Amino acid sequence: MTFRIISRTDDRTDTKTLAIPALDRSISSPVLDTRRRGLHDLRISVTDRCNFRCTYCMPRSVFNEAYPFLPHDELLTFEEIVRLAKIFRAHGVEKIRLTGGEPLLRHGIEKLVAMLSAAVPDAELTLTTNGSALKAKAHALKAAGLNRVTVSLDSLDDATFRAMNDADFPVQRVLDAIHTAAAAGLAPLKINMVVRRGINDGHIIDMARYFRGSGNIVRFIEFMDVGATNGWKMDDVVPSAEIARRISEVFPCAPLNPNYAGEVAKRWRYLDGAGEFGLISSVTEAFCGACTRARLSTDGTLYTCLFAQKGYSLKSLLRSGIDDTEISEAVQSIWHHRADNYSELRTAETAKQKKVEMSYIGG
Ligand code: GTP
Ligand code: 5AD
Ligand code: SF4
Ligand code: SF4
Repeated sequence: MTFRIISRTDDRTDTKTLAIPALDRSISSPVLDTRRRGLHDLRISVTDRCNFRCTYCMPRSVFNEAYPFLPHDELLTFEEIVRLAKIFRAHGVEKIRLTGGEPLLRHGIEKLVAMLSAAVPDAELTLTTNGSALKAKAHALKAAGLNRVTVSLDSLDDATFRAMNDADFPVQRVLDAIHTAAAAGLAPLKINMVVRRGINDGHIIDMARYFRGSGNIVRFIEFMDVGATNGWKMDDVVPSAEIARRISEVFPCAPLNPNYAGEVAKRWRYLDGAGEFGLISSVTEAFCGACTRARLSTDGTLYTCLFAQKGYSLKSLLRSGIDDTEISEAVQSIWHHRADNYSELRTAETAKQKKVEMSYIGG
């Protein structure tokens, strides 16, 4: 069989096809890639649309009325997503994260959660959201089987938050949603703050203060050069080491051991017992060496790195009528040949490459 590789970039015109190497029958199971990394996490983007226009992710100048968002028939159906989830589970996936775009905009998302929870009951089921529709859906998501939720929140200052989401969305509504989700049992929540120098780095301490002692965990994320439209510059990155220093000057803290090997965030605890926060240092301390994450885009293309320029169209396999064994072998072969380590190689030049957009590939 010949598999096709589909390349998808922001202008959505650059399509290339490649045959992937035939399956080597001696591949061990569970599969390891060329750097001996397993396949433990599957991140599924369920929509490439979002009601926010965060300047670092979907700048309005690019993601405007003229932007070619995917038509509905190009999206994977819930049945197709579940079919793939079962196949990935068999290859060792233990955690499934629904992302986007904004996943709560996908019509019937609670139904997808319920279907996944029934199909792969022993996998952890999580979701990353901007929080705008979470208050209304938190209880239904929990009832459907969602284990946890991560909420993106870049500032507690209303004016800064509205400017960063570029949709004039008030911060209080996200905070209300966080409290509702925690009360619904989706706790502990993780709160993702992307830190950009000169934009919201002055609000790091406020964020730490607000969530200390709440049971929810803030993660401060270094601004990354994902996609090809966010105008990334190294000068805009606030290194995690600086964030740790700034927090420790106000709230004494110390590093904690990871919860599991390959955890993305470095954990820190407050010495007064007020819980923990995390630092995600993809730019200054790359963590590719333990990267066990596969990403399935909205239209069913499999990417083996967040910074990929090309992916493998599983949707065309799904819709070609072949059986699960053949799709499973394709996934196994793709992972077996994986060599990605983009963040270890990042330079000002690679940052300009035409990578797929995060809203499409899934954060
Ligand atoms: P939990 O520990 O289960 O909460 O999940 P996680 O640590 O994988 O966190 P999450 O999925 O919320 O990821 C947090 C952020 O880290 C993402 O939004 C990205 O900004 C960044 N990130 C996650 N995975 C990768 C990765 O594979 N590569 C890079 N460079 N960044 C990543
Ligand atoms: N750099 C770092 N994190 C980003 N996210 C989106 N774009 C970027 C970027 N350029 C994060 C968001 C959200 C998750 C989906 O990815 O904050 O929490
Ligand atoms: Fe939407 Fe999340 Fe991207 Fe912001 S970071 S534009 S909320 S997908
Ligand atoms: Fe994994 Fe690619 Fe991120 Fe490295 S840059 S941690 S290989 S997704």
